[in-house]
Amino acid sequence: MKRKTVTIVNNLTGQEEEFPLIEGNQGPPAFDIRSLYPKMGLFTYDPGFKSTASCSSDITFIDGEEGILLYRGYPIEQLAEKSCYLEVCYLLLYGELPDREQYAHFHRMITTHSMVNEGLRAFMSGFRHDAHPMSILVGVVGALSSFYHHELDVSDPEHQEISAHRLIAKLPTIAAAAYKYSIGQPFMYPQNDLCYSENFLSMMFSVPAEPYNVNPLEARVLDLVLLLHADHEQNASTSTVRLAGSSLANPFAAVSAGIGALWGPAHGGANEAVIRMLEEIGDVKNINAFIDRARDKNDPFRLNGFGHRVYKNYDPRARILRKAVHQLLADTKTSDPLFEIAMRLEEIAMKDAYFLEKKLYPNVDFYSGIIYRRLGIPVNMFTVMFAVARCIGWIAQWKEMISDPERVIGRPRQVYTGPKDHEYEMPDQRGYPTGSTKHCPRCPQSRWSRMGSSS
Ligand code: ACO
Repeated sequence: MKRKTVTIVNNLTGQEEEFPLIEGNQGPPAFDIRSLYPKMGLFTYDPGFKSTASCSSDITFIDGEEGILLYRGYPIEQLAEKSCYLEVCYLLLYGELPDREQYAHFHRMITTHSMVNEGLRAFMSGFRHDAHPMSILVGVVGALSSFYHHELDVSDPEHQEISAHRLIAKLPTIAAAAYKYSIGQPFMYPQNDLCYSENFLSMMFSVPAEPYNVNPLEARVLDLVLLLHADHEQNASTSTVRLAGSSLANPFAAVSAGIGALWGPAHGGANEAVIRMLEEIGDVKNINAFIDRARDKNDPFRLNGFGHRVYKNYDPRARILRKAVHQLLADTKTSDPLFEIAMRLEEIAMKDAYFLEKKLYPNVDFYSGIIYRRLGIPVNMFTVMFAVARCIGWIAQWKEMISDPERVIGRPRQVYTGPKDHEYEMPDQRGYPTGSTKHCPRCPQSRWSRMGSSS
């Protein structure tokens, strides 16, 4: 009879050990190597976690080969067509779609927590006027913990819940305030009669001096973009949130760490990089030169918005977004030269042997920036938009991690390749330059100077 195990043989010693297979509901099984070191004195080596499942999770599933994305089992295409961002937030956080009463309660909770403490205004004013809004977001979200220190017991389900609601509710307010700060306009308060994406647009673009009417078309497309970014299983920023949270750090600190991880151009920063790249290309006639650069091993340039660790097929979110851009431009009877370049770039790349062989397809970031631009959101806010949308994924994954009976602090091991057997040499043996006696007594500079040596 076949056993659901994997046997590892150490060919140096002949030691053989069996490890259990863990099977999820979909996707490849994993073998459980938690007892590998105690049994065999070995570590596994997997930089970038290319073959490592760091946890088990009920939240999101991706089949990268087939280009499938499910939130709690629901296909992303169905949610994109029929649901809305806040309902998806409920789904990700609680595991099922809400009934009418549950949704009304959740909506009320998020709406009534959207203001931030007035003390945060003083905090914001400490940033340079031209600070990147992501730098403001990292700082301010971490600082939220200083306002709620009485409700930060991570083992208390009520504290978990209120922290989750606060984060989902306040991220748009903080994001819009970061933008307002950068252009020198007053921060706008949230309006409780507006829905999530309407409220965000209002806080971004209204001013106290005149009335502002949210464009329902723009609110709808923004809601879709938020929904598509809501969660994506164990990506770099989510893994960062889980790792930071595994030390029992409070959820504001953990999410702030996730925002830092999201910022890079290999992750959420790609949406900003895509638009800058399309602007640099400038004309369809220049596309081939950029494709050549992306193919060139000696050129660090990559086609931003292409490729993904998990998807080896078209990212389903990119397909939905491409359609949404078409729709938005048709509905508003406008065109966007960058969209023309993006579509032509995709067309050329999708026939190119390099991209086909490496299975590099457009990812979610390839088309999201074109929508943000059309909504009037400046390029340096794009990654902030991603953070606003992904906040629910981070907090749902954090909640799952913190409630997991198997949770332990995340602490990878390493293969050490540094020097060994160094013996300490006294400063005079190493020719330290003359130092000041102001240094602390243990500092080599002051020890050297006490010894009275001169160089
Ligand atoms: N342009 C050109 N070549 C690429 C690209 C690209 N965009 N992406 C990957 N490749 C090449 C790599 O050079 C590598 O080639 P090699 O096998 O000859 O060494 C091969 O494809 C595999 O790429 P890796 O970097 O090993 O794949 P990995 O899974 O580590 O990286 C990543 C995935 C970071 C997303 C990568 O594809 C990339 O840098 N893309 C551009 C940035 C981007 O769009 N990021 C957003 C990702 S989606 C998100 O975070 C929401």
